[in-house]
Amino acid sequence: MRKTIIAGNWKMNKLVAESVATVEALKPLVAGVDTVEIVVCPVFTSLYATGQALAGSNIQMGAQNSYVKAEGAYTGEIAPQMLLDVGCQWTILGHSERRHILGETDAFLNEKLHFALNAGLKVMFCIGELLEEREGGQMEAVLTRQITEGTKGLTEAQWEQVVIAYEPVWAIGTGKTASPEQAEEAHAFTRGLVCNLFGAAVADAVRIQYGGSVKGENAAELIAKPNVDGFLVGGAALKADSFAAIVRAAA
Ligand code: 13P
Repeated sequence: MRKTIIAGNWKMNKLVAESVATVEALKPLVAGVDTVEIVVCPVFTSLYATGQALAGSNIQMGAQNSYVKAEGAYTGEIAPQMLLDVGCQWTILGHSERRHILGETDAFLNEKLHFALNAGLKVMFCIGELLEEREGGQMEAVLTRQITEGTKGLTEAQWEQVVIAYEPVWAIGTGKTASPEQAEEAHAFTRGLVCNLFGAAVADAVRIQYGGSVKGENAAELIAKPNVDGFLVGGAALKADSFAAIVRAAA
């Protein structure tokens, strides 16, 4: 039985006070929910204060990125060790905005994944096809490449610390959610890939989140699909009440 995991990716939003206010509002709305793992992912500058505000709650914290070195002359980058230091349990890697705006490659993401896991962070590893790739019949090839290259070399023990987030790029921030059937098809395909590469035990255990215009109104029908194990939420995670509605729909 895979435990549902719902994470809010706040992207580049919220000053420190806004981040803290959001989690202070969220805490009572999801208090007592123990059937869903809940994670919020603020910007770096908000992590410390948000982590303090979350102490003792049932909400975990993640960062939105991490680098492949522990320290040194890497101006502007952030180490997994530093994220752990301010209270993160998770980092998001491979988000489509980092792949497509910042140019991160499958090989670099594989390096980041290994480095974060070895440092002790858990990882939400994002995959997903562009609209033109889907329309060109390339979805399966893209997911195959992203999983094969991106998760290369992971051990069974490391896989226990990894969640896959399937986020079709055409559904991100567009209000155009994948249908439950489209999500299920991509998730089942992804689980099959993991099975081929790493075996049935890893594939059965790994959680696959859906991301792309998830809201309180569509969460229940998506989570009802057997291969949808949670969500990575953008826009609807920015407000405590809309994020809590998604958690409640899945709890
Ligand atoms: P939206 O929920 O705003 O579509 O964003 C999804 C996403 O990119 C989460 O990482």
